[in-house]
Amino acid sequence: MSENIELKVSPELKEKPDFSQLTFGEIFTDYMLSFEYSLDQGWHDLKIIPYGPIELSPAAQSIHYGQAVFEGLKAYKHDGEVVLFRPEENFKRINQSLERLKMPQIDEALLLEGLKQLVDVDREWVPDGEGQSLYIRPTVFATQGVLGVHPSHEYRLLIILSPSGSYYGGDSLRTTKIYVEDEYVRAVRGGVGFAKVAGNYAASLLAQANANQLGFDQVLWLDGVEQKYVEEVGSMNIFFVIDGKVVTPSLNGSILPGITRKTVLELAESLGYETEERRISIEELYELHQSGALTEVFGTGTAAVISPVGTLQYRDEEIVINNNETGPVTQKLYDHYTGIQSGKLEDPHGWRVVVPRYDR
Ligand code: COI
Repeated sequence: MSENIELKVSPELKEKPDFSQLTFGEIFTDYMLSFEYSLDQGWHDLKIIPYGPIELSPAAQSIHYGQAVFEGLKAYKHDGEVVLFRPEENFKRINQSLERLKMPQIDEALLLEGLKQLVDVDREWVPDGEGQSLYIRPTVFATQGVLGVHPSHEYRLLIILSPSGSYYGGDSLRTTKIYVEDEYVRAVRGGVGFAKVAGNYAASLLAQANANQLGFDQVLWLDGVEQKYVEEVGSMNIFFVIDGKVVTPSLNGSILPGITRKTVLELAESLGYETEERRISIEELYELHQSGALTEVFGTGTAAVISPVGTLQYRDEEIVINNNETGPVTQKLYDHYTGIQSGKLEDPHGWRVVVPRYDR
């Protein structure tokens, strides 16, 4: 087994909240993982420290120029064991995001080891209720305090943990109302759409707030060139069931390569569905709905899980999907996906990673 990472013991542990009332991302555990980078030392000082406020230069480049990336993954508890779901995929993707923002690469195996040890220390915080998990949020941000626009010489990585319930609140399979955004765009050709960078989410907030005001849960983004092709939803990738086939927009550089997206494609194939990744326009979708070929729409994301879409509104025209109910394909994928994650089903693909008990 690997060497223990330094643990700075917290003088006082928090009282655990009422796990039956968990919302998304509002409560944090006792500890976090911290890793620092400087030009002369590279990545150094990996340690587990008490969760709490950090010191940051007011001139830190992440605050001024948005040099910051993040990830999202989950841990589950089943039969007393804590498991992570496909964590190596998140660390592969964090390096892709880091590369795009000219930030230093991180040793993925070391990061995974650090995460396992952190989750082990906080294992009592992993909830085991229906639809609950320990949401894991790694983030890397520039910390050098200078105002010239150049890649920072100093960075910090933190991994924080949040016992969470469903992202949209209430029932995970509540159908959502989606507004097709035709004014603002999320990403452009050659931009940072494929990377999990903080600014992508800041750039989405105005359209998201406008849609919320009109009673919608999220916006569906169209491509940034012609505003014609469907890309992704605020915090999810998007899927369509068309003539029984599971279809999602192909990755084109401006769509986030979601790990749940990848998992759902693999799962759908193994359940015997035909899958397709292709360009699909909003007009075509409306025509497919009219002809009856489009039977289900759902979003996928680590936080959102598999989330059925009940209505889509594009300009003045609203379409209702599957009577505003969760369709059979969505339900089947949801059951298998969450079943494998939580340990209720077998894991034939080897997606679960057990968190060992370290001797401390
Ligand atoms: C996730 O699904 O983990 C995300 O990062 C989406 C969102 C909560 C920002």
